[in-house]
Amino acid sequence: MMKIATETPMPSRLVDEYKTAMRHVASQVAVVTFPTETGRSGITCTAICSASTEPPALVVSVNRSTEACEAIAKAGVFVVNHLSDEQSEIARQFSSSGDAARRFSVGYWQVGETGAPILEAATANFECRVEEAMDFGEHRMFVGTVVSVRIDDGSALLYRDGFFRRLVLE
Ligand SMILES: Cc1cc2nc3c(=O)[nH]c(=O)nc-3n(C[C@H](O)[C@H](O)[C@H](O)COP(=O)(O)O)c2cc1C
Repeated sequence: MMKIATETPMPSRLVDEYKTAMRHVASQVAVVTFPTETGRSGITCTAICSASTEPPALVVSVNRSTEACEAIAKAGVFVVNHLSDEQSEIARQFSSSGDAARRFSVGYWQVGETGAPILEAATANFECRVEEAMDFGEHRMFVGTVVSVRIDDGSALLYRDGFFRRLVLE
């Protein structure tokens, strides 16, 4: 097994090692969507986890350099749409620099009770209201309390080592 961590690495080296190690971690891919003043937008995210069960809440970590960061803060609501392995094109759209309208050209979209876009046929949708936000490093962590959920059949879309991947049974 390759050992990556060292005793006292230079900070920049540690950052590189961290990035390399994170590429080895498989994550489920989601698009986080929200309403904007002119319509709707969204961003592909993997830095998402459950924050609490009672109340049901999620944490989404968004880079502060993205347009999405300020837009989510302004909207005060978002939906985490966990993608199925049939929806990798949606992940590509929402991580590219195309305008927001083009991002929604793929997939079937509805509007949730908060006004945020909800993707049909996602493996799970969590519609949330922003409860708290905390800046850490170059990211902002949004804690969203869940107001509605949906689930669908279908298998998860994963991301590892720069590639979208499917889950397989062992
Ligand atoms: C698989 C994948 C996962 C990503 N996960 C995140 C994430 O968790 N947080 C984040 O801020 N950006 C993440 N990104 C990058 C954003 O999707 C990308 O920067 C986005 O296009 C920014 O959009 P905006 O500046 O128009 O808001 C991810 C990209 C990919 C391809």
